[in-house]
Amino acid sequence: MKLSALSETLIASEIVSLGGEIREKIRQGEKIYNFTVGDFDPNIFPIPKQLEDEIINAYRNHYTNYPAAEGNLDLRESISFFLSQRENLDYAPNEIIVSCGGRPLIYSVFRAIVDKGDKVIYAVPSWNNNHYTHFNEGRHVVIETHVNNNFMPLAEDIAPHIQDASLICLCSPQNPTGTTISKRELEAICDIILEENSRRGNDEKKLFLMYDQMYCQLTYGNTEHYNPVALKPEMKKYTIFIDAISKVFAATGVRVGWAFGPAKIMDKMKSILGHIGAWAPMAEQKATAKFLLQKEDIDMFLKKFKEAIELRLRTIYDEFIRMKKEGFNVDAVAPQAAIYLAIKIDLAGKRTPEGKLLTSQPEVTAYLLHEAKLAVVPFSAFGASKSSPWYRLSVGTCHLNDIPEMAKKLRSSMAQLS
Ligand SMILES: Cc1ncc(COP(=O)(O)O)c(C=O)c1O
Repeated sequence: MKLSALSETLIASEIVSLGGEIREKIRQGEKIYNFTVGDFDPNIFPIPKQLEDEIINAYRNHYTNYPAAEGNLDLRESISFFLSQRENLDYAPNEIIVSCGGRPLIYSVFRAIVDKGDKVIYAVPSWNNNHYTHFNEGRHVVIETHVNNNFMPLAEDIAPHIQDASLICLCSPQNPTGTTISKRELEAICDIILEENSRRGNDEKKLFLMYDQMYCQLTYGNTEHYNPVALKPEMKKYTIFIDAISKVFAATGVRVGWAFGPAKIMDKMKSILGHIGAWAPMAEQKATAKFLLQKEDIDMFLKKFKEAIELRLRTIYDEFIRMKKEGFNVDAVAPQAAIYLAIKIDLAGKRTPEGKLLTSQPEVTAYLLHEAKLAVVPFSAFGASKSSPWYRLSVGTCHLNDIPEMAKKLRSSMAQLS
């Protein structure tokens, strides 16, 4: 059966399919320490009670018809308030668009900006930029990042490629690394974008920045989140932000997200999203509109939520650093943000007790799953090289008392290698 070239060449999300495989093992009764999904276990991390109540109220009040195509005005007003309060950003409702989570917004940013063959610059590992670029038949310009720079791209990596690029994709705090971009590097990247845009003529397409800040409220310790427009106000003309309630309120299944940026681009995105019908449900929009105004409730929720996530990240990080000191070939980046820890498990070249040589990183990943019962997502699933020994460990479904057990199993499965 012949189908479209797009559907024949599309790669399904590796993370979703890995998650499915692991769930099947668990269903068959195996104990797996599953740190793969970028989601929350609602029994550990429920959504805020006030948001839940407002959703129920909205249904009871029969908010069940079509919402406005660009998102209801009351919600866009609340988002505008939320942005000014929490991000020091000044965006009017006509510069904001609502959709059912971050994904359709990202897709419509690409649709609004990227033509077939246009250059899209993104770093790896990063979340799904490869898929969205493929979807839009863009030309991939991939920058491989390193732990020394927190797995973030540098302005000097980007500069050689920007002359005829249409879109740069940045994500901070970043999925899968749990790291953030520094103020200095973000400023430097903004500078080269501004310079490039002043070089381009008025009838040329400009270079835009998609800035995905889904996790920006979830920073820990001294880590600060920076955004391009607060640092360089001129960037307002060229930046499209992506955000949502999905991660910050553990509300991945509620499906309310927003983008903000130049009104003209928001208007085009509205038309694209309208044809797809990717609106956030009416009742959830009504509820989110009310909830985003509740500063104290949000502060209280975030305090507890962040403490619980940070405790898990920190406890696992400490275990990895202890194992490293004991001589195991592991490492981790200290928790900075989001719900992710970047961990390194470098066992390629080791031999199992049965005499099998672990020749490649995929074999290491399989060994970890079968022997240590540890399920984590290799950075290669986020576009990094297949031989990268780094993994994303997500704590959204992590029970605290599983951590010492997991570390014990990992230690013993590494100790038996020679
Ligand atoms: C960086 C980033 N952006 C966007 C999304 C999409 O979020 P949503 O569930 O709201 O579609 C995710 C989800 O994992 C993400 O990690």
